[in-house]
Amino acid sequence: MDLDAALSRINPKVRALKPYHLTIDTVDVKLNQNENPFDWPAEIKEEVAAFVRTRHWNRYPDFIPETLKQALASYTGVDSDSIIVGNGSNEMLLVLLLSLTGPSRPLITCQPTFTVYRLLASGMGHDSDPVFLSDDLRFDTTAILEACAKNPDAVLLLCSPNNPTGSALSEPELRSILDTHTGFVIVDQAYVEFGAFNAIPLIADYPNLIVTRTFSKAFSAAGLRLGYMLGQEKIIAEINKIKLPYNINFFSDYTATVLLSHTDILQDRIEYLVKERNRMRQFFMSVPSVKTWDSAANFILIRTAEKDALMQAFRRDSILVRDVSSYPMLKDCMRISTGSADENDRLMQSMAKFYKGNS
Ligand SMILES: Cc1ncc(COP(=O)(O)O)c(C=O)c1O
Repeated sequence: MDLDAALSRINPKVRALKPYHLTIDTVDVKLNQNENPFDWPAEIKEEVAAFVRTRHWNRYPDFIPETLKQALASYTGVDSDSIIVGNGSNEMLLVLLLSLTGPSRPLITCQPTFTVYRLLASGMGHDSDPVFLSDDLRFDTTAILEACAKNPDAVLLLCSPNNPTGSALSEPELRSILDTHTGFVIVDQAYVEFGAFNAIPLIADYPNLIVTRTFSKAFSAAGLRLGYMLGQEKIIAEINKIKLPYNINFFSDYTATVLLSHTDILQDRIEYLVKERNRMRQFFMSVPSVKTWDSAANFILIRTAEKDALMQAFRRDSILVRDVSSYPMLKDCMRISTGSADENDRLMQSMAKFYKGNS
């Protein structure tokens, strides 16, 4: 078989996708991936390093990461049998789509949202049918419920707070969806710690609700690749059947357990980042050429007719933000992650300088 013949045998929906791609750039101020600007203290890293030095590398990790699951159970307030941990919340989303969707159970997502949903759906052969956010980029529950009514078995995947808009579902909005929709509802809460409504307490009332969370944002641990899902015990037991065995390595397993014993550090950082996000938002609101939206996450979406020139100005000042202008509804938009106060000052100074020069 020649290369072209082999390429032609790849799932056409996958071939039609543009690769998910991020600019690999070394800059002073990196505000393009919604990472936490703060690393963990050296003492905590030493504690993990001591474990890694003595742990046998030739042996598989624990079949069930029970200690980590117990720590997550006390952090989230559910039973440990209601949790599956995985290699990032992205892996959990893949496992969920594999176990919940099917030819008669398509996927409904809102747009604009996290790009990975569409990639996973394409890999599974679904034409993901989007429901658009409202004109002010909030969840349009009426439109969501209309789409669900047409497809009562569909799996509804909602991102709250939503990447890249920052908008979040309220408890009444989510309850109204769960009270009506008869298919599964997955709520991706990767950014929930920054102030959105936490959907986990609703799991007890709704067996069709699954929540996914991550260590990559508020927990300052994107490099660990650790995420988890939560749902009712019997539902989780079924989904767990297709999770790959040993999907998390012993380093991530041990480290995440250690980090969960330092939620005081986590809380301080969340408060700091929320204050910084609000400070940046106030500044963006004061710039006449910039439109910005309220955010419940650690990033802010802005729109400006000078998007390309402003991004270049940032780049000259060694600042990287995310261009999201190719997403549906987001013409001329960029997404700016919240960094440390110094990083945020640099971004705001760069923007102020740009608009002064342009006026
Ligand atoms: C909404 C959303 N969900 C999930 C993820 C992926 O998280 P993880 O690093 O746990 O795979 C991201 C990462 O940016 C995200 O924005």
